[in-house]
Parts: sequence; C-alpha cells; structure tokens
Amino acid sequence: MEGADIRKLMTAISALGLMMVFLVISAIGLILMVQYQPEILAGWFANSKEEVVAQEDVPVDVEWTSEKLEEVGLVEGEGLQLVLANCTNCHSAKLVTQNRFTREGWIQVIRWMQETQGFWDLGPNEDPIVDYLSTHFAPEAKGRRKPLEVEWYSLE
Ligand code: HEC
Repeated sequence: MEGADIRKLMTAISALGLMMVFLVISAIGLILMVQYQPEILAGWFANSKEEVVAQEDVPVDVEWTSEKLEEVGLVEGEGLQLVLANCTNCHSAKLVTQNRFTREGWIQVIRWMQETQGFWDLGPNEDPIVDYLSTHFAPEAKGRRKPLEVEWYSLE
C-alpha cells in the first residue's frame, strides 16, 4: 500500500473509533437515565401538558384528614372547606400557609391569581375564604415581642 492509502485508512479507523466511543458513552448515559431518572425520558415523550403535570406533586382530591391538615399547616375553622376546595387545586396548600397577609393583602393575592394565573371568580365564597385566611394567616403583630414563656422555679 502507498503511504497515502495507509494514511486514509488510519483516518477512517480513527473516525470509526471516535464514533464507537461516542456511541458507547451515549448508551451508558441513556441506560443510567432510564435507571435513575425515568421521568426525564417520560417528559421528552409526553405530548400533552397534563402528563408532565401529573408527575409533579400536585395534591388532587386529597382526603383531608386531620393529620394531612396539620402537615400542610391548615387549621380547623369556619371557611376551611372552601379554602380546601378552592386553594389546593393549582399549588400545594403549603404555599397558602407559608404566607401571612392582612385582609387586603389576601384579596390582592387572589386578584393577582385571577388576573394572571387563571384563578376563577370566587363569587359569594370570597368573603368567607378571605375571613378564614386573614384570621388564621395574618401578619404577626410588629413591635414588642411576646413575653418569654418560661417556667420559673423557686430556689430553695
Ligand atoms: C387557578 C390556579 C390557582 C388557584 C385555584 C389558586 N392559586 Fe394561588 N397561585 C397560583 C399560581 C400559579 C401561583 C404562583 C405559584 C408560584 O409562584 O410557584 C400562586 C401563588 C399563590 C401564593 C403566593 C403568592 C406570592 O406572592 O408569592 C399564595 C399565597 C396563593 N397562591 C394563595 C392562594 C389561595 C389562598 C388560593 C385560594 C383562595 C389560591 N392560591 C388558589 C394559582 C392558583
């Protein structure tokens, strides 16, 4: 063989070798992904939005036992059922209980969700819902801190 032929052969073999390495690495990557993160792959092939959303931790039709309520930080009280029915569909109830607003503040949050997030009109339910929220999730009073709760003991 001529030197030029040999060079061509070597180039071809190198190219083939590189491709093999690339393929093997891709295959390993794919296998690892299927093994450990199948939801990524499922996301690629999911053609409707619902399929992707359904994999997230969206509480739908949760049975609100008292343990479940405690877990998300909701308290019993008037309006709770309305809040459960209207405020746990799109996001976790924890998003509600992590926030503190005045009555006006809660109304603003609701308006914002209605204007930008497709939240529905609450009609006559709005009042009891806002009552519940502003009663149980009101901002802490600013100013003086609460007195320490210490169990005093007497020296003998
Ligand atoms: C139609 C869907 C939908 C419903 C129903 C809904 N929300 Fe939301 N809400 C959203 C979206 C979307 C966000 C933004 C979430 C994010 O930032 O991850 C949000 C955010 C919030 C926030 C955070 C606001 C902030 O400033 O960070 C609070 C608090 C909240 N919602 C309370 C409620 C309450 C209370 C109800 C029931 C009265 C409710 N949501 C019902 C869609 C909804």
